[in-house]
Amino acid sequence: KRPAGAPDKALARKITKVGVVGAGLMAGQLALLFAQRLEVPVVMTDLDQARLDKGVAYAHGEVDKLAKKGRINADRANRLKALIRGSLTKDAFSDADFVIEAVFEEMSVKQKVFAEVEAVVSETCVLATNTSSLSISEMASKLEHPERVVGFHFFNPVAVLPLLEIVRADRTDDATLATAFAVGRTLKKSCVLVKDAPAFVVNRVLLRLMAEFIGAVEEGTPIDVAERAAAPLGLPMSPFILMGLVGPAIALHVNETLHGAFPERFPVSPKFRRFVESGKSGVYLPDFTLDPEAVEIFKGG
Ligand code: 3HC
Repeated sequence: KRPAGAPDKALARKITKVGVVGAGLMAGQLALLFAQRLEVPVVMTDLDQARLDKGVAYAHGEVDKLAKKGRINADRANRLKALIRGSLTKDAFSDADFVIEAVFEEMSVKQKVFAEVEAVVSETCVLATNTSSLSISEMASKLEHPERVVGFHFFNPVAVLPLLEIVRADRTDDATLATAFAVGRTLKKSCVLVKDAPAFVVNRVLLRLMAEFIGAVEEGTPIDVAERAAAPLGLPMSPFILMGLVGPAIALHVNETLHGAFPERFPVSPKFRRFVESGKSGVYLPDFTLDPEAVEIFKGG
């Protein structure tokens, strides 16, 4: 059955090679998923060799974990690792049909990345972005072929969570959208077509939820009590643990984007901002006890 709003799949283009811009955690997860499901070469790129090596090593490490768990055999593991490689230059994308970016969440950075990719790829290569909240139309606006840009928003952990928000920008054409849906289905994701609105759908809801928990903590409810109070909601993960999984800086970025669009509904908590500026990766320590310094930031005046 064709998902609501998806164009005819006959328009979808075949994908024989994928490019991933960025070699962070999200990019590594994406590289692995594309190699596993599309069975095509996946080239990752980043600004420096150290970051690139780390990203490729992460993806290869995840393949090893699958082999260790007995999910794949040694041949399959070697094949997947051979499909995923790194290149410092975007020239390696010249014969890619689908490039996805997962770089720093800043419009100018993403626009620059897309301009650089457009300079080396074919006219029909799809340019997808995994942005959490930025406008896809604005990201595409300076390109020669904005019609090939589409939002492709995954959820952490990418290997496990089934949803994929596919975002049509104001100039995205039917062939691009059909290709995006075909790729999404091959990745075995449940694809939904969402509007190019700030933070799309899921992050808008999630941020609201997180903001209310942060608010309760700021008002004096201890973090662990707020977490226990979340239990009746049946969430798969408590809100503050989820903040650590997503990354506090990304959560703040989504919050700021939503604040820009809907200032009244999405205020930015100064304590949350201070917490992010502290550089902490979450409110819990590795042994899942609360980090007293994080607690202090949320309690502080
Ligand atoms: N990477 C890969 N696989 C992972 C993983 C990871 N980081 N974390 C867990 N898994 C796998 C495990 O290996 C396990 O697989 P298996 O059954 O095949 O062995 C499976 O997931 C279940 O894991 P666990 O049994 O350890 O734990 P849970 O049952 O508690 O599930 C969870 C873990 C899937 C992370 C679950 O807690 C969950 O769904 N949490 C909510 C996550 C969520 O809401 N994410 C969305 C964030 S928003 C976002 O990403 C958008 C962005 O723009 C901000």
